[in-house]
Amino acid sequence: MPTQLTAADIRKRFLEFFAHPKRGGHTIISSASLITTDEKGITNPTLFNTAGMQPLIPYLLGEPYIADGKLITRLVDSQKCLRTVDFDDIGDKSHATFFEMLGNWSLGDYFKKEAIEWSFDFLTSTSDVLGEQGLGLDPTRLYVTVFEGDAVAPRDDEAAAIWRDVFKRHNIDAGGDTTKGENGRIFYMPAKNNWWEAGDNGPCGPDSEMFYDVANRFAGRTISHDEYVQADDVRDVLEIWNDVFMQYEKKDGKIVGTLPKPSVDTGAGLERLTMTLQGVDNIYDTDLFKNVMDITRTLSSEVVRQRIIADHMRSSIFLIGDGVVPSNVGRGYILRRLIRKAVFNATSHTIDSETVKKIVGAVAHTYASAYPDITSKASIIAQTLQEEIEKFSGTLSRAVHEFDRLAKNGMNISGADAFTLFTSFGLPIDLTVALAADKKLTVDRAGFDEEFKKHQSLSRAGAEQKFKGGLADANDPMVIRYHTATHLLHQALHDVLGDGVEQKGSNITAERLRFDFSYPAKMTDEQKKRVEEIVNTKITAHIPVTMVSLPLALAEKTGARHFFNEKYGDTVSIYYVGSDIANAYSKEFCGGPHVKNTSELAGDEGKWTFKIAKEEAVAQGVRRIKAVLS
Ligand code: ALA
Repeated sequence: MPTQLTAADIRKRFLEFFAHPKRGGHTIISSASLITTDEKGITNPTLFNTAGMQPLIPYLLGEPYIADGKLITRLVDSQKCLRTVDFDDIGDKSHATFFEMLGNWSLGDYFKKEAIEWSFDFLTSTSDVLGEQGLGLDPTRLYVTVFEGDAVAPRDDEAAAIWRDVFKRHNIDAGGDTTKGENGRIFYMPAKNNWWEAGDNGPCGPDSEMFYDVANRFAGRTISHDEYVQADDVRDVLEIWNDVFMQYEKKDGKIVGTLPKPSVDTGAGLERLTMTLQGVDNIYDTDLFKNVMDITRTLSSEVVRQRIIADHMRSSIFLIGDGVVPSNVGRGYILRRLIRKAVFNATSHTIDSETVKKIVGAVAHTYASAYPDITSKASIIAQTLQEEIEKFSGTLSRAVHEFDRLAKNGMNISGADAFTLFTSFGLPIDLTVALAADKKLTVDRAGFDEEFKKHQSLSRAGAEQKFKGGLADANDPMVIRYHTATHLLHQALHDVLGDGVEQKGSNITAERLRFDFSYPAKMTDEQKKRVEEIVNTKITAHIPVTMVSLPLALAEKTGARHFFNEKYGDTVSIYYVGSDIANAYSKEFCGGPHVKNTSELAGDEGKWTFKIAKEEAVAQGVRRIKAVLS
């Protein structure tokens, strides 16, 4: 058994194996950023790449992939991914928020036969008969699944037959028909398991997944359908590879047709393959995590917490490396949550700057050859982490102190107390629940929610009161213009000052707009000029402004700016400035009204420009801009 392979060896071996002319001669491409780009508005607007296929969606749908003037139909890569759906599983043996997905890609070229044969060869081959070596995993510990069929697409007997043939050629007993209760190696599973798609739009199709008996529970024998399902449930057999046979296209959740040419999308988790090859039973004991775990062991005595800190810090390091800055919206908010949860899980509720540097150094070292940018950006990454950690750990220690006071004598936490911890001490409800669980106490969640609602309606009533007081008429054309100008200003401030900018307040009259936002310093003349220029460019570019109403969950996925601790209704409206929402310059949750086109901000004669009349401090760390259109 080649147990000594490092993760870097596995990544390299994968790329070279598929680049070899006898294994398809795939072109090696480097990982795209974690941040999704969507120039064409085709992909689902997720905030991060969650699978290797996401940056390649246009090509899976049939657009030609051209490099150096040549059409390329076979690619191989290792793509950085970030998934937050598994947030609550972090700390178990095999889930991570950041991970790498190895993939070989047929863009309308080869299909099921080659995909399956090459997957098997890479996983199991030891010899270099064809010039390239695979991983040498024991083929008798391999079990596979195929799609059982439904109203949308037929049962994948084709993939099953290919697998049967592959096993036969390698003298592995594939057993009988597992759908008839016989033991075997090939199992038919429903769409929930064996159908792949990224959201409601884009290419999709049935898949075939490969599982390795990491616990050696079955000692290489054929097994029944139930045995497979139970072993999967406790991860004794672990999914290590997925071949997706892209055949269909979905729009708005419905299949709208077949692809012009079928494609192949593969995903093999590097962390899991490494764990399997290194003979350990969890990803944190692999060389991908070992250096970081050596440090996080000093931050908590509990293994699960050490792992959560290691995972979240690693993800945060890669996110900052790809340009994300902690904030209260969109990507920045995901980063903030990761950092905060890491800090929360450290026994001292903080991570000192020396330790932060050590963790960044350890991650940079582990990825020195694959992602050298982590090394070159190490000091800015460490600085960003430190600032965020310091900000939060101060808040957290005050909140924990208050929590301890409330929980003394073993009292459960009432809804009103949880709400005070949230509003006055900045402690999110999930962390209050976690603190309580540590002390075997409960939190009155329903009570907390009621307090929340009460507070919301109070502040709305307050706003309506002010409105009636005649501050401004929302339907005055000038007020509408300033409203749109405020959105443009908000985005321009982000562009110029960075994602640390958070809206703190806004007030509009027919004479001017006023906008308060967080920023630690006085803006320079240069910065003010830049902001004005950006807004004016958007006005002269005559960009449409559009409203869409979306269910809250979908609305959040668009990345539109909103207040993270505001409670929104089931359906929210988003105003965006751009020809489509994916590429919009500005998008915000907002009740409106707004102009139809940014050109209206130039006034009826098209002569006005946007000017910052004043920039001043209103509180520590909060700036106020007054601006006019004239
Ligand atoms: N896109 C497939 C997955 O993520 C390979 O599992």
